[in-house]
Formats: sequence, C-alpha cells, structure tokens
Amino acid sequence: MAIKVENITFSYPDSSVMAVENVSMTIEKGERVAIIGQNGAGKSTTVKLMNNIYKPTRGRITVDGIDTKEQTTAQIASHVGYVFQNPNDQIFNDDVVREIEYVLRYWKLPKEEIRRRREEAIDVTGIRPYLETHPFDIPLPIRKFLTIAVVVAVSPDYVILDEPTAGQDLWGCAQLKTVMDYLQDKGKAVLTISHDMEYVAENFDRIIVMAHKNVIADGNKKDILYQPDVLKEAHVKPPLSAQIAQAMGIRGKVLNLKELAAAVNLEKQ
Ligand SMILES: Nc1ncnc2c1ncn2[C@@H]1O[C@H](COP(=O)(O)OP(=O)(O)O)[C@@H](O)[C@H]1O
Ligand SMILES: [Mg+2]
Repeated sequence: MAIKVENITFSYPDSSVMAVENVSMTIEKGERVAIIGQNGAGKSTTVKLMNNIYKPTRGRITVDGIDTKEQTTAQIASHVGYVFQNPNDQIFNDDVVREIEYVLRYWKLPKEEIRRRREEAIDVTGIRPYLETHPFDIPLPIRKFLTIAVVVAVSPDYVILDEPTAGQDLWGCAQLKTVMDYLQDKGKAVLTISHDMEYVAENFDRIIVMAHKNVIADGNKKDILYQPDVLKEAHVKPPLSAQIAQAMGIRGKVLNLKELAAAVNLEKQ
C-alpha cells in the first residue's frame, strides 16, 4: 500500500512554465515523511497532484494501485487528505461543526458515526473552545487546526500537511505533535511540507528534498541534513544544533540540543 508518483510533469492551466518536472517518489502506508526545499520548488504542486486536485500532464500517480487519472477528486480525497498551506483556501462553511461534518454527511454516514468522528477530530485538534465561532473569526493559526480536524474526521490513509508549523506558537506546535501521534497510532502515513528544520528533525525519519521543480535527495534525516551541497542547492539550513556542532568541529551527526550536549561532553573527556 503506497502512493506512487512516477515521473510526473505538470504546468498550471494558465501558465506556460513547468511547476514540477519529472518528479518521482513513493510514500508507503504508515510512513512519516517531510518534504523540504525553497519556495517555488514544486512541493505544494506535487502533493496537490497526489490529492488529485490536479492531474499530471505527463507521468502517473497511483494510490494503493489505483491510477488517480481515472478517479474524481472526491474519490481520491477519501484515501489522501490534504491540509492546505492557507486554511482560507480550504474552509467553505460558515460554521465549524458543519465544516467538519460536511464530507461525512455527503457520504451519508450513520448519525452516531458522524458524531463520533466529529468529537474525536475536535478533541485531537484542540478546537473545542471555537465551536461557536465563525471559522473566519478564529485566529489564523487555530483556523489551521479546523482544517486539520476536517481531514482527521475523514480519516484517509495518507495525510498531507502543507506548512503546518508556519505561524504556530508553543500551543500550536504541541497540538500538532498530539495530532501526529494520533495519526501514527492509527497507522496513517503523514507527509508534511515544512521549512522548520527543528520540527522536521524532531518528527520525521525520512526527508525528501526538492529544488528547481524536482527531487534532488531522498533519504534518512541524518544523511540528508548532513549533506551541505544538497541543503545549499535547496536553500535550506540544518537545525541550529547541527550548525553549532559543525562550527565546533564535532564529528558526530547531531540533530537536537540533547545530542549536541552529549557530543560536547564526549569531546571534553
Ligand atoms: N496556481 C498557480 N498557477 C500558476 N503557477 C503556479 C501556481 N501555483 C504555483 N505555481 C508555480 O509552480 C511552481 C511550483 O510552485 P509550488 O508547488 O507552490 O512550490 P512550493 O510549494 O515548493 O513553494 C512555482 O514556479 C510557482 O510559481
Ligand atoms: Mg508550497
């Protein structure tokens, strides 16, 4: 079971330039993968193609063996959930509960099942204080959790989060961790686009690096975040702990403060 992206190329209908070119990647069920790379690299376009919002101009995407080309966006959305970078691009109901229940009602799920999924999504995303608030009056970082709640309620096997830490404070980052742990417990794959290397290093094992509309590296975080040429090409800086370790001439590959402290103590001995 996997999302398989094979040599896809795509340009937006109103544009003559390629947004992604010959991109390939496989996301296995249950995996946690981060996609990193500078703005315009093609990250969001790649995941929107996985979600079947657009269809590739060339190449092929299959979800658990099913070609997205032959499916409607709604059909794929029940397998692949996409949380937009900007929640305003996603929210279309003027009521929080209606927004969360929309797809479940469209599927005509039993009332009790709708209630159960809605309540679980509300709790896991921490948005209970905002149930009576108009979605567009909810502070933007918390509005993002409403869009996450919608995807949690739909419960697809593959969950894609586009820039979830952007603009989040400590509450938001902790809540996001709760969401990710919940999704992992449920056996979901989580694919996240992020510029936040501390978050990436802490929460993901595998990193895919994109630059100039293509994948330039794909592998274990310790390998990827210690490849200066790759990071330079993608205009990404490794976590601060790794930068400090390199500046101090520490040889081990550290990715957080705890590992940095341990490596410094080792050097002192
Ligand atoms: N709706 C759109 N219409 C036309 N071009 C777009 C659109 N969205 C993105 N692009 C272009 O596609 C390329 C890849 O963009 P995107 O996938 O958003 O990159 P990233 O998410 O890595 O920042 C960029 O050159 C961008 O300008
Ligand atoms: Mg993007």
